[in-house]
Amino acid sequence: MGNPPDTSPTSGRRQSDRSPRPCQYHRVRRIFPVPDAPSATHDAGLDELYGVPRRAPEGRPWVGLCMIASLDGSTVVDGRSGALGAAGDRAVFAALRRAADAILVGSATARAEKYRAPKRDGQRIGVVTSTGAVDQTTDLFSSGAGFLVMPEDGPAPPSGVDVVRAGTGRVDLGLAVSRLGEVMAPPVFVQAEGGPRLNAGLLGAGCVDELNLSIAPLVVGGDGPRLVAGAADTMQRFEPVHVLADDEGYLFSRWVRRPAEPGPG
Ligand SMILES: NC(=O)c1ccc[n+]([C@@H]2O[C@H](COP(=O)([O-])OP(=O)(O)OC[C@H]3O[C@@H](n4cnc5c(N)ncnc54)[C@H](OP(=O)(O)O)[C@@H]3O)[C@@H](O)[C@H]2O)c1
Repeated sequence: MGNPPDTSPTSGRRQSDRSPRPCQYHRVRRIFPVPDAPSATHDAGLDELYGVPRRAPEGRPWVGLCMIASLDGSTVVDGRSGALGAAGDRAVFAALRRAADAILVGSATARAEKYRAPKRDGQRIGVVTSTGAVDQTTDLFSSGAGFLVMPEDGPAPPSGVDVVRAGTGRVDLGLAVSRLGEVMAPPVFVQAEGGPRLNAGLLGAGCVDELNLSIAPLVVGGDGPRLVAGAADTMQRFEPVHVLADDEGYLFSRWVRRPAEPGPG
């Protein structure tokens, strides 16, 4: 994802948000909802589609997961997401990054995908960790944009690094997202960028409001994790908001969680 797209071998999907500005990426067509004129392609304005106003639930920001998976459900190739992505995915990812006030990421993903400082002014990236074992030498932290999200009883953060604390032993993710305003202007839209173990915690905490899922037209085999790894059984229903397709065969879907239906009695 780059502007120009960063194609260096160390650049994973997660880190290529320097992608084309709005309207420079014209190869995405909306296929759901069906465009008014079925014969015409619909050049989607990605900022229009992904920068929509989001109404945060009471007491916490709106949380959206953003992930890419292969046709056979893997989220990695050789331990990283980069080989799954392509220009369209990078453009969608960049539009979501422009829309988000804050980013949350698991420490393993921050390491694997070599997380760096965000492009959007004021945007902050919180690395979720119980150990605080992060590479503070990266510009994610030297820029001041990076911070840690840790349990109350976790070790001290590295000097000069902000920390949001919630929970004991493990981060209470629901509480943590409600406390992000301690280190920035209270965010409205928080984008969670994985990995699958962080996603499991967020899902378990009942605070995944939106899923932005890119499907790569690839079967990759291996035993890479799917979108969520280690989650308790759950049944949360999501409504499709749109599905886009590009010329490379990628699908980009946006889903919003349907409110839980009241139980009997
Ligand atoms: N396809 C995609 O879109 C995509 C997106 C993101 C990542 N990935 C891939 O996914 C892989 C990494 O994912 P992963 O699931 O192994 O790891 P992860 O979710 O990125 O990180 C797991 C780590 O996050 C911390 N953590 C998560 N929840 C926590 C909680 N409630 N309390 C305290 N700490 C918590 C822990 O860090 P500590 O061990 O420091 O305590 C844990 O070891 C990489 O290969 C990456 O490339 C793919």
